[in-house]
Amino acid sequence: MLTREENMLLTRTGPGTAMGAVVRHYWIPALLSEELPEQDCAPLRVRLLGEDLVAFRDSTGAVGLLDRYCAHRGASLFFGRNEESGLRCVYHGWKFDTTGACVDMPNEPAESSFKDRIRLKSYPCQERGGIIWAYMGSAQPVPSLPDFEWAVVPEAQRCVSKRLQECNYLQALEGGVDLSHIAFLHRNLDPGRDARDQTLTRGDTRPTFEVVDTDYGLLIAARRNADADRFYWRISQWIMPWYTMFPPLVDTGIGGHAFVPIDDESCWVYNMTWDPSGPLGAVGDGIYGELLPGTYRSRANRDNDFLLDRAAQRTVSYTGIPGFAAQDGAVQESMGLIADRGRERLGSTDVPVVALRRRLLHAVQMLRANEELPGLEPASQRVRPAALLLPRAIPFQDGAGALLRAQTDNYAMRV
Ligand code: FES
Ligand SMILES: [Fe+2]
Repeated sequence: MLTREENMLLTRTGPGTAMGAVVRHYWIPALLSEELPEQDCAPLRVRLLGEDLVAFRDSTGAVGLLDRYCAHRGASLFFGRNEESGLRCVYHGWKFDTTGACVDMPNEPAESSFKDRIRLKSYPCQERGGIIWAYMGSAQPVPSLPDFEWAVVPEAQRCVSKRLQECNYLQALEGGVDLSHIAFLHRNLDPGRDARDQTLTRGDTRPTFEVVDTDYGLLIAARRNADADRFYWRISQWIMPWYTMFPPLVDTGIGGHAFVPIDDESCWVYNMTWDPSGPLGAVGDGIYGELLPGTYRSRANRDNDFLLDRAAQRTVSYTGIPGFAAQDGAVQESMGLIADRGRERLGSTDVPVVALRRRLLHAVQMLRANEELPGLEPASQRVRPAALLLPRAIPFQDGAGALLRAQTDNYAMRV
């Protein structure tokens, strides 16, 4: 349970907010690279951390992320002409480059130097791992680009997508660290279709959690009874400020998410699947779900009750909702646009959620004390989740060992 003040603190990320200041110290996934597919393509409206922006790819292929509203009299640059390495406002022709500099002002006298004094807010962008990353902070030096394994493996070993979720980022992120819901929300009622890991997961619905503070965030282990001699461990990471990694459950490849605030009442759920050992096989429906054509909104969404099918709920799946993504979206959006955490009754399997909030609140204090925030060092991001059976006497960190590090070529070793 959180106080009203703590809930406000954790869930607000707009300009001038405490958590907004924390997350602006990190590179932020702003778009998928595929959304700006070529030089001089159509500009896009972007809303990120409550800020209205416009993104465009210029004639050299560089990406600009600018204040959406023209510095002259505020027309939206979404309507702009993307031409000759700049975005030109269609109202009076002012033109801005990717740094926000005004490079042409065709409605002013040719000898005027007015344009040299005009600059639009702009955020530096870089591309890696199929993502256009933006740095929205003011810290110097700017941190290194994220070095997550999924972002740096060859393209054939990775799948990245995103979907809209119409609620605050924190309740989506909390779902990402809440490993006990898998045995319920994502349960398949047809045992013939279960993969080994899913059978083990639903075989014990009362996992015991061990949560370890790390230099990137949290290492979260869920321990389930497997047989008389062994435990089944599912080990995940939460990396500041909103990344999770989780071991395979049904599909091939390791899974990950990023829960990025659009504003306080909606977020992008980025999905990543990767195979460190070679080309990625078919990732299936799993965490992706079907999108409405031409959008990143799920076909199963709040307007159609996430395609809830009561007959399927009795026979096929625990929810009657198709696919992990829609199942997560349904329950998390159903908690309200910003969940009221003053009404919760937390139990023993909510330990990771409590730890997540504690670390995020602590990050706010760290920033106020001018301390270095966790998870900014690329070396700290080189982690990997694991699922394995271990003799009961072996502590999970000893048993998993190098499987939890991404720097060695050890994925084939997985148990
Ligand atoms: S409002 Fe953009 S050029 Fe005038
Ligand atoms: Fe889930």
